[in-house]
Amino acid sequence: MTDPASSLTPAMRQYMDAKKEAPPDAILLFRMGDFYELFFEDARRAAPLMDVVLTKRAGVPMCGVPYHAVQSYVARLLEAGCKVAIAEQMEDPRLAKGIVKRAITQVISAGTVLDDTVLNAGRSNFLIAVLPGKARLGVALLDVSTGDFRVTEVADRAGLETELQRLHPAECLLPETVHTRWQAEGWPDAPAPMVWTPVDDWLFDLEMARDALCRQLGVASLDGFGCRGLDVAVGAAGAVLSYVRNSLRRDASHITSLQVYQNDAYLVLDRISQRNLELVEPIFADARDATLLGVLDHTATPMGGRLLREWILRPLRDCAAIGRRLDAVEAMVRDPLLLNELRESLAAVRDLERTIVRLNVGSAGARDLLVLRHGLAAVPGLRALLGGLDAPLVRDLAAALADLPELTGLIARAIVDEPPLAIKDGGMFRPGYNADLDLLHRAAREGKDWIAQLQAKEQERTGIKSLKVRFNKVFGYYIEVTKANLGQVPADYIRKQTIVNGERFITPELKELESKVTGAEEKSKALEYELFQALREQVVAATAQVQATARALGALDVLAALADVAARNGYVRPVLTDAPVLDIRDGRHPVLDHLMRQERFVPNDTLLDVEENQLAIITGPNMAGKSTYIRQVALLVLLAQMGSFVPAKSATVGLADRIFTRVGAADDLSRGQSTFMVEMVEAANILNNATPRSLIILDEIGRGTSTFDGLSLAWAVAEYLHDHAPVKARTLFATHYHELTELALTRKGVKNYNVAVREWGEKVIFLRKILPGSTDKSYGIHVARLAGLPRAVIDRANEVLANLEGNAINEAGKPRLARSRRKAGGEEPAAQPWLFEF
Ligand SMILES: Nc1ncnc2c1ncn2[C@@H]1O[C@H](COP(=O)(O)OP(=O)(O)OP(=O)(O)O)[C@@H](O)[C@H]1O
Ligand SMILES: [Mg+2]
Repeated sequence: MTDPASSLTPAMRQYMDAKKEAPPDAILLFRMGDFYELFFEDARRAAPLMDVVLTKRAGVPMCGVPYHAVQSYVARLLEAGCKVAIAEQMEDPRLAKGIVKRAITQVISAGTVLDDTVLNAGRSNFLIAVLPGKARLGVALLDVSTGDFRVTEVADRAGLETELQRLHPAECLLPETVHTRWQAEGWPDAPAPMVWTPVDDWLFDLEMARDALCRQLGVASLDGFGCRGLDVAVGAAGAVLSYVRNSLRRDASHITSLQVYQNDAYLVLDRISQRNLELVEPIFADARDATLLGVLDHTATPMGGRLLREWILRPLRDCAAIGRRLDAVEAMVRDPLLLNELRESLAAVRDLERTIVRLNVGSAGARDLLVLRHGLAAVPGLRALLGGLDAPLVRDLAAALADLPELTGLIARAIVDEPPLAIKDGGMFRPGYNADLDLLHRAAREGKDWIAQLQAKEQERTGIKSLKVRFNKVFGYYIEVTKANLGQVPADYIRKQTIVNGERFITPELKELESKVTGAEEKSKALEYELFQALREQVVAATAQVQATARALGALDVLAALADVAARNGYVRPVLTDAPVLDIRDGRHPVLDHLMRQERFVPNDTLLDVEENQLAIITGPNMAGKSTYIRQVALLVLLAQMGSFVPAKSATVGLADRIFTRVGAADDLSRGQSTFMVEMVEAANILNNATPRSLIILDEIGRGTSTFDGLSLAWAVAEYLHDHAPVKARTLFATHYHELTELALTRKGVKNYNVAVREWGEKVIFLRKILPGSTDKSYGIHVARLAGLPRAVIDRANEVLANLEGNAINEAGKPRLARSRRKAGGEEPAAQPWLFEF
């Protein structure tokens, strides 16, 4: 190999310097003219990910992407889990002396991306940092795209996992040493596709963190934010802040406040329950609407959409706080006309939260100013509407709204109705906003008029009727004369170019006019750019108010959406209580109720407490509605605790601290666990963590193994839930093991229910009604017939069933399942005794 330094071109040397300055794990996109170029290992790694051709120049592997499409390529790299550093040209190449200056302007990772093409408007994009301390773990989270900045501390790894499940962060920062340790010991359970990013340990240093946070937030002490004693949380917050500043390469001026939250203020929903209950993601990807979010999302603004998602994943655990939300929803439900107007006004508001951030970080254009203007313009009307709603939460939210009339007035006077995307090409400002700009515009306009007049004047002077003044990018303005008239061209014309039909000339006068026009245009563009920056500064000064307004609008939007859903679907206000009870009359599954518009969804009651009705065992045929019913109960509790009305005639809901679910048999091959193993891991989690305040729903536990093992386990689990004092949680247990119903004979808190069906000749009619008492028929074969199994299989299954029910054991003590009423042979499938021989 040759010595690289000596053989490098100046540009390459500049590249090497930038590469040294970029984080070592980042792919560097190096701006050269109209392209971003990648070299060496970066090019090799990125070319296939970006789907561009890898080439070689002077032995150096390289690839490039056009500058105007760079965002989509960055998006692809981020999706592949990469980090990207962008090096820009820092001066106009036309004006540069020597090589153009370049510098890294931004480092983009999953947690620091601000680009709208990558971000999803409907969800927050959290960058979080975790600092394990002696007793607790500190967690800080920041949505860079909105400035939402929060800290908390959790007790242990399980607490951290709960937070990760609630937040679905994009990226998690860890001190290098912890990263190495967890890599060896195993990572906490985190929702994909989160990336773990190691950063220097010192970034988490408490003193530095405090200092940096105080400076960022403009305070002398963090105590005012409630951070006293939360040292690991503050350390984590410091790390987040310095990482973001370094990534954005500027002060993150949009981070204006910090919020401390207690994670035990929220109902805990682990990953399993989130998925089983299909809260925000359907289990089957094609069933987009079939989630609770899908049913509830009547929000009108992106802020509302993001917050609704958060409310679903973080239901509350405090009666008073839930009551405040319910009061607000109720007030809106009571006034449908007002609710309608409210939702219409909200619909005029776009993503204020992300817009103000774009303005802060300098990636905004004039259109963003209009988003701000129109959004804030809706505020006075909204405030007037909200005045008609008698609810404390609404009053507080209304008080947080700022309409900033000077600012919106300024933007209205400044920016035209349909400004261009780019801020360097002018055309953004209205006439009358700035006198200098008006003068420049006039000069350019007049210059153009003079040039137009010049054509008439020259036609007259030369007598050439077809003489034209034209413009192109290479020559600027020129005079074109056709071949036939070339003889009449005056001596003062200067020839520039010969074309097929004639020649092109310029004159000193034309060039003088031209320089007036282009000079004025250049100057006006530059001035517009300056004016834009000045206006941006003024807007940025109001960042905190805009953010507070955006958040209040988001909350109002969610409340209005909940009210709308409640009014449309006939939901009622639940009664929340601290007592561990659950009394639902005519409850409905919110999602099925919504999707099954044609056939009516059959409502059902639920009564649970920690005395006589602690454990409900639900038996019933296949397809009867057992799974639907127990999920419905969990969803109603969740709805109530997030502050929503519920689909029922009435509901009294005792606050739950957690909802546990063990539902269905989903393979988790990606985690290297078999179906049955998953089932048992989930059961263990429930038995070890449930409290008398929890709600547990169990669907068919023990099904993934042999009948006897499964029944024994199911039996023991049910007994444990009932007898074991630390658990004793309200439980719904759906099962096909009819033997379990015998538990009710010996355990006072166990009640049996079944889902009613009616037999009608050969047919079975599903009534979908939950009734007291047990059942011992499964009608599994009936369902198999409905599913279209071949007739021969159905008939044979009926025979085997009859043998079983007839207690068909032969003299040797072996089951006679293989016995067939028909003779074996012919086209009948032969009996398969080997299946049942032990
Ligand atoms: N209350 C109801 N009203 C109307 N339809 C219902 C109701 N409950 C369930 N269904 C319908 O019945 C179907 C089957 O319900 P579900 O899966 O709950 O049955 P299951 O008893 O759990 O059956 P399996 O024993 O096979 O698991 C649902 O997909 C739904 O379409
Ligand atoms: Mg089921």
